[in-house]
Amino acid sequence: MQFHGLSVIEFLYDDVLVIKLSFCSKKISTQINIARLYSQKVIVSLDMLYLGIRVHSENNKDTFGILIRFNNGTINNLNIQQYRIEGYTVPVIFCTKGINLFWENHREGFLSVIRCLLKIFRCKFSINNDYNGDSYQPIISKLFDLQLEFKMFTIRPNGSTDQNSSWNQISSNFGLVEDLRISSSFKPSFRPVFTSWPQKITIMNSYWFTVEYLLTCNCTTITLGGSHLENKNLDVIFLKWKAGGFPNLEYLYVESQSIKNNGTTVLGMNLPELDGKVIQTDDGSKKATIHTDYGRYGRIELSVTPF
Ligand SMILES: *[C@@H]1O[C@H](CO)[C@@H](O)[C@H](O)[C@H]1NC(C)=O
Ligand SMILES: *[C@@H]1O[C@H](CO)[C@@H](O)[C@H](O)[C@H]1NC(C)=O
Ligand SMILES: *[C@@H]1O[C@H](CO)[C@@H](O)[C@H](O)[C@H]1NC(C)=O
Ligand SMILES: *[C@@H]1O[C@H](CO)[C@@H](O)[C@H](O)[C@H]1NC(C)=O
Ligand SMILES: *[C@@H]1O[C@H](CO)[C@@H](O)[C@H](O)[C@H]1NC(C)=O
Repeated sequence: MQFHGLSVIEFLYDDVLVIKLSFCSKKISTQINIARLYSQKVIVSLDMLYLGIRVHSENNKDTFGILIRFNNGTINNLNIQQYRIEGYTVPVIFCTKGINLFWENHREGFLSVIRCLLKIFRCKFSINNDYNGDSYQPIISKLFDLQLEFKMFTIRPNGSTDQNSSWNQISSNFGLVEDLRISSSFKPSFRPVFTSWPQKITIMNSYWFTVEYLLTCNCTTITLGGSHLENKNLDVIFLKWKAGGFPNLEYLYVESQSIKNNGTTVLGMNLPELDGKVIQTDDGSKKATIHTDYGRYGRIELSVTPF
C-alpha cells in the first residue's frame, strides 16, 4: 500500500480516530482490521527517555504522539475523558497532534499502550534507546517478551553499569530486529557475545568487532565504522565469501585506518587494482563488486549483485 500526499494525512486522521475508538470500545473491531491494512507503512517509535510513543508515516510528516504522563491524582482539566485501556481506567486529554495519558505507574502505562497498539497496528516498532542503554533494560526486556519486532533498534552503551547482563538479555532477541545500530563504545574490557543476529547491523565505533566476530555474522548488511580490520582480515573475509560463506550477505562496508595501500594484498591484488573489481563465488552462483577508493581513504565496500 502506497501513500501519496493527502491520502497520508487522511489515513493518519483515520488512525487517530481508530485509536480513540479502540480505547473506548471493543465493538469496532472491523474498523481496527481496516486500520491494520492501512497501517503497513506506519512506524511506531518509542521514546525511552520520555516514555512517549510516536505513530508516524515513513517521511515523518504525519505524526500522532502518545505521551505517557504521571498521574499525581490532581489533574485538573476540563477536557479530561476517561478511557479503558488494557483493563485500566485512564484519564486522557486529546490535543491536536496526539493524546496525553495519565498513569499512576509510568512503566505499566507505557507497556499497556504498546500492547494496545500491537492490536491495532501490524507493523514493526522502532526504538531509539539513545540515552542510557542500561536503565531502560528492564522495559526493553518486557518489549521483547511481547515479541515486538523492531524495524530500527539503536543502542548506546553507557559503560558504567553491568553491561554483561544487560547485553545478554537483549542480544538473544536480535532475531526480532531488522536494523541494529550500536552508536557508542562499550567499556574497553567488555566483549559482547552475539547469541543471535539482526538482519542488518551498523556499528559506529567497531574497533572491538574483530575478524572473528565478522566471520560468525550472518547479517545481510554489515556497516563498520572506526574498525581495526586490516587488509589481511579482508582477504580472509572475501575468500570465505567466494567459497560460499556469508550466504545472506548483500552489502559490507568497512572503514578502518588499518586498510592500507601498503603492499598487503587482498585476493592477490593491491587496493587500487581491486577497485571496481567484480568477483564471483567459486560455484559461480553470485557476483559482487568491490570498491576501495583506490585505497586512499581506508575503506572498502562489497556489494553483492543477485544473478
Ligand atoms: C499534578 O500534575 C498536574 C498535571 O501534570 C500538574 O499541573 C500539577 O502541578 C501536579 N500537582 C502536583 C501536586 O505535583
Ligand atoms: C551511565 O548510567 C548510569 C546509571 O544510570 C549513570 O549513573 C551514569 O552517570 C552514566 N554514565 C555516563 C558516562 O553517562
Ligand atoms: C558475560 O556473558 C558471556 C555470555 O553469557 C559469558 O560467556 C561471560 O563469561 C560473561 N562475562 C562476565 C565477566 O560475566
Ligand atoms: C543467523 O544465525 C542465527 C544464530 O546465530 C540463527 O538463529 C539465524 O536463523 C540465522 N539467520 C539467517 C538468516 O540465516
Ligand atoms: C600494512 O599495514 C598493516 C596495517 O597497518 C600492517 O599490519 C602491515 O604490517 C603493513 N604491511 C607492510 C608490508 O607494511
